[in-house]
Amino acid sequence: MIVTPYSAGCGALVSGIQLATLSDNELTELRAAFAEHGVLFFRDQDFPPAQHLEFAERFGSIVVNKFFKATSEFPKIAEVRKEKTQQTNIGGGWHSDHSYDDIPAMGSILVARTLPATGGDTQFANLAAAYDALSPLLKKRIANLRAVHSNEHIYGENGVYRHTDLAEQLGGMDRVGDATHPVVITHPESGRKVLFVNPGHTIQFEGWEFTESRTLLDELYAHVNQPQFTCSFNWLPGSVTFWDNRCTWHQAKNDYQGQARLMHRITLAGSALTAG
Ligand code: OGA
Ligand code: MN
Repeated sequence: MIVTPYSAGCGALVSGIQLATLSDNELTELRAAFAEHGVLFFRDQDFPPAQHLEFAERFGSIVVNKFFKATSEFPKIAEVRKEKTQQTNIGGGWHSDHSYDDIPAMGSILVARTLPATGGDTQFANLAAAYDALSPLLKKRIANLRAVHSNEHIYGENGVYRHTDLAEQLGGMDRVGDATHPVVITHPESGRKVLFVNPGHTIQFEGWEFTESRTLLDELYAHVNQPQFTCSFNWLPGSVTFWDNRCTWHQAKNDYQGQARLMHRITLAGSALTAG
């Protein structure tokens, strides 16, 4: 297995393995690479849905997303679909998956099934590197804060997706909810401190006024969204991406209007978060 950094501060490309036929030793190596880099990219995988499922179950335990449609054959595989007639895409802004749950998802494994001729990259951000680079003053300001993470403003009755052409493929409007988490967590595998807030789901700091929260959150978000912490992955047939939701953000570029894109996603369960 060869693991090479994908960009200066974000992600790694893993080559020389097939996820569908991974040996136990390779799985151990992969766990270490995952803990070190937070997001792994794979090319040229022969990885049909049954093998996607099998790999996910070897790595961890699966959680099913409350809002996405599943594939007809595999209820644990979610479809991330955009039809060529659709304007709005899923995950078009920076977020991490399931941070609105009391125990947020550990990771997501995304597989390309139908790709546009060009465009449709997924961008990632490294929240451990971003935390390390915060000024001492900012680190102090956020040290003991907690933040509220919600999905209601996205998937709820008046959420941003409800009045778009995505609405009909989403369910679970009545299952919205929120959770609070420490703003700085210690990553359970790497032991690194991580900035655990994201633009998609974090709505405010616990006990703070909304506008005060907004100002500091926007400052943190602008800090993360810099070239030294981010990268963009261009999908090709056979590409797979596996990211850790506790220490990365991602967003799907919506720059392929008039073309279809279909990805398969499996989400893996996490463990309770620890304050950093
Ligand atoms: C997701 C997601 C990004 C993409 O599956 O959680 O945000 O590029 N997808 O499809
Ligand atoms: Mn996502």
